[in-house]
Amino acid sequence: MPFTSKEVHLLERPQGLPTPAQFRIVATQVPDPQDGEFVVQNIYMSVDPAMRPRLAGQTELNAPMIGGTIGKVVQSRQADFKVGDFVTSLCGFREYFLANGKDKAQNVQKLDPDGMPLTAYMSVLGTTGLTAYGGLLETGALKDGERVFVSAAAGAVGSIAVQIAKLKGCYVIGSAGSDEKCAWLKNELGVDVAINYKTQELRKALKEAAPNSPGKKDGIDVYFENVGGDHLNAALPRMNFQGRIPVCGMISAYNNFGSISEPVTTLSNMIYNRLRMEGFVVYYFEHLRLQFLNDMKRWIKEGKIKYRETIVDGIEHAPHALIGLFKGENIGKMIVQLAKE
Ligand SMILES: NC(=O)c1ccc[n+]([C@@H]2O[C@H](COP(=O)([O-])OP(=O)(O)OC[C@H]3O[C@@H](n4cnc5c(N)ncnc54)[C@H](OP(=O)(O)O)[C@@H]3O)[C@@H](O)[C@H]2O)c1
Repeated sequence: MPFTSKEVHLLERPQGLPTPAQFRIVATQVPDPQDGEFVVQNIYMSVDPAMRPRLAGQTELNAPMIGGTIGKVVQSRQADFKVGDFVTSLCGFREYFLANGKDKAQNVQKLDPDGMPLTAYMSVLGTTGLTAYGGLLETGALKDGERVFVSAAAGAVGSIAVQIAKLKGCYVIGSAGSDEKCAWLKNELGVDVAINYKTQELRKALKEAAPNSPGKKDGIDVYFENVGGDHLNAALPRMNFQGRIPVCGMISAYNNFGSISEPVTTLSNMIYNRLRMEGFVVYYFEHLRLQFLNDMKRWIKEGKIKYRETIVDGIEHAPHALIGLFKGENIGKMIVQLAKE
C-alpha cells in the first residue's frame, strides 16, 4: 500500500520575513519500494535559520523543501536498511520518502541512538552541537579561562556554545531576546552576564560586562557571532588584543535582500587589537565528529551540558516554525515532529 505523504512547497520567494501563505502543504503518494529501495517515515525535522537565505534562490519553487530529518524505515527491499531502523537524511519538509541509501542528495545514514533521545541527534549531538564545538574550540581557538561573548545565546547553537565555554572555565556573556531566555542562561546554564538586547542598550550593557580597559584583559577574547549587524558593531570595540571572532551566522541579516546586514562601523578595531574574524561552516568539523560525540555524550551524562528543544507538532506548522526562528519563538533547537516515535 503506497503511503500518502504531506510535504511543504515554497510558492513564491519572500521579501522580508516570510509569511505562511508563501508555503503550501501538498499531499503526494510515495511509490512502493522496488528491489534495492525502502520507504522512510520522518519523525522529526529540523528548521534552521540558514533555510531563509536559500528561499531567495536555492530552494526550488513548487517542490518539497529540504532539510535535516530523523526517521524510521517503514517498508524495505534493501538489506542494509531494515524496517524499524532509524535513519538521518536531508529529506525534510515531507512525511515519507522513497530512498535507496546511495543518493548523495538524500544523504540517508543509519542512526544508532545509543541510549540517547532521538531528538538529541538533531540538537546537542547533531549539527547544532558540532557547530558550537568546532566553531568555539577550533575556529575560535578558545583557551581555558578566556572571556567569551555569544549572541543568540539561548538558541540551539548559542546555548551549547555558552556551556562549552563555561566548561573551559571561561567568563561568559550571552545575549538573547527575552527575560525568560536570559533567566535560563544565568540560572541554569551558568552564564555570568545575560543581556536582553531587546530591553537593554546592547552597546552599553556589553561595555559594562566587558569594558576592555587599557592595560587590562577585561574585554572579550572570543566573540561567537550568530547575529551580525548591531551585535558585531557592539562587540568589536570590546575585543581584547588578538581576540577571535568565529562567524557562525548573521541571522539579523537573513530577511534582507542579499542577506545585507546593518552597517558595521567599528571595524578599525580589527587593526587596533589585531583581531581575527573567520567565517566557518559545520562541514569543516567532520574530522572532530568522533571526539565531539565522545565529549558531548560524557558532558550530558555528567550533567555538565543541558539542552532544550522547542518541538512544534505537525508538518502543517513547519512554515510557522521556520518563521518563528526570526521572532525568537524558540528556546534551544527548533524541531518539528511529524510522527510519533
Ligand atoms: N556556520 C554553520 O555551519 C552554522 C550551522 C548552524 C547554525 N548556524 C548559524 O547559527 C546561528 C544560530 O542558529 P541556530 O540554528 O542555533 O538558531 P537559533 O539560535 O536556535 O534560532 C534563532 C534565534 O536567533 C535569534 N534572532 C532572530 N532574529 C534575530 C535578530 N534580528 N537579532 C538578534 N537575534 C535574532 C532569536 O532569538 P532571540 O530571542 O534571542 O532574538 C532566535 O531564537 C544562525 O545565524 C545560523 O545561521 C551556522
